Amino acid sequence: MGFETTSPGATHERLPGTETAGDGSIGPTGRPMPSFGEPPLLGSHGPARVIAMCNQKGGVGKTTTTINLGAALAELGRRVLLVDFDPQGALSVGLGIRPNDLDLTVYNLLVERDHDIRDVIQTTRTRDLDLLPANIDLSAAEVQLVGEVAREMVLARVLRPVVDDYDVILIDCQPSLGLLTVNALTAAHGVLIPLECEFFAMRGVALLVETIDKVTDRLNPRLQIDGILATMYDGRTLHSREVVRSVVDHFQDRVFHTVITRTVKFPDATLAAEPITTYAPSHGAAEAYRQLARELISRGGAP
Ligand SMILES: Nc1ncnc2c1ncn2[C@@H]1O[C@H](COP(=O)(O)OP(=O)(O)OP(=O)(O)O)[C@@H](O)[C@H]1O
Ligand SMILES: [Mg+2]
Repeated sequence: MGFETTSPGATHERLPGTETAGDGSIGPTGRPMPSFGEPPLLGSHGPARVIAMCNQKGGVGKTTTTINLGAALAELGRRVLLVDFDPQGALSVGLGIRPNDLDLTVYNLLVERDHDIRDVIQTTRTRDLDLLPANIDLSAAEVQLVGEVAREMVLARVLRPVVDDYDVILIDCQPSLGLLTVNALTAAHGVLIPLECEFFAMRGVALLVETIDKVTDRLNPRLQIDGILATMYDGRTLHSREVVRSVVDHFQDRVFHTVITRTVKFPDATLAAEPITTYAPSHGAAEAYRQLARELISRGGAP
C-alpha cells in the first residue's frame, strides 16, 4: 500500500521509494526502506511501555499520531491506553468523547487522592484502545502541582495502578515544556517527537532535546528518544523532501523510515471522531500509521 503522494493536478512525479516498503528502494527519508513485517501476537499483556508524544511546537501532529498510532497498535492486538495530557482535550474529542461533560478526568487524579483511575478511564469504539480523558480543568494543574512534593512524578504515580493492564501507554502532551510535559517525560520510557515537514520544523527541537536530557539526568534515567516522525509530508514538493533530508542529516537513525503524508483524511477522521484506521481503513494514511506501529515494534519501542 502506498503513501499518497499525488493529487489531481499535481505536476510532480511520484518519488521513487514512497510506494513499497522493503523492496530495497529509497524511502522518503532518503534511506533504503526496510520492510516491517507483521509482529507476532503477544502471549500475555503488560507491563506497558510508556511513550510521551512531545513537541512544544503546536499543530505538528502529536494528537493525530497518538490516536492513529494507538489504533494501529490496537489492531496488532496490543492493549493501548491513550492519555490526554492537554487541557484542550483534542485527543478526547478526536475519540468521540465530550470532555467538558465529564466530572472526572486526569486532572482529578493529579490533584485529588480519592479516585480510582479505572473509574476515569473510558473505553472507545476501537477494541483494545482506552482513553484517560482531559478537559480544560487540566490547565489549573500546572499551577496547583507546583507546591507538591515530587511534583514532576505525579502522573507516573497516577498511571502506576494500570501499567500492568496495558502493553503501550501513549501520552499526548500539550505544546509546551512546562510542568505537565515534564510529568509526561518522567512517567515515560520513551519520547516520540513528531516534526511537521515545514520551514522551521527544527526550530525549538534543540530546546526539547535539552529538556529531555535534563529529565533523563535528574528524574528519569530510563528515558530515551524513541524516534522522530516526519508528519504532513508532501512528496510532490522539493521543500518537504529537503526538510526530511535535513532532519535525517541531523538525527540519523533516530528518524523513523515511516513518514506521514499530508492529507485531508486526518481532519476528516477527527470530525468523524474516529481513528484513520477505521475511518478510511484502506487509505495510504491508515497504512502509514500501521507501518509506524510495525516500525516502532521492530525497534523495540513497543512490545
Ligand atoms: N498528516 C496530516 N495531514 C493533514 N492534516 C493533518 C495531518 N496531521 C495532522 N493534521 C491536522 O493538523 C492539525 C494539527 O494536528 P494535531 O492536532 O495532531 O497537532 P498537535 O501537535 O497535537 O497540535 P497541538 O500542539 O495544538 O496539540 C489538526 O487539524 C489535524 O487534523
Ligand atoms: Mg494536540
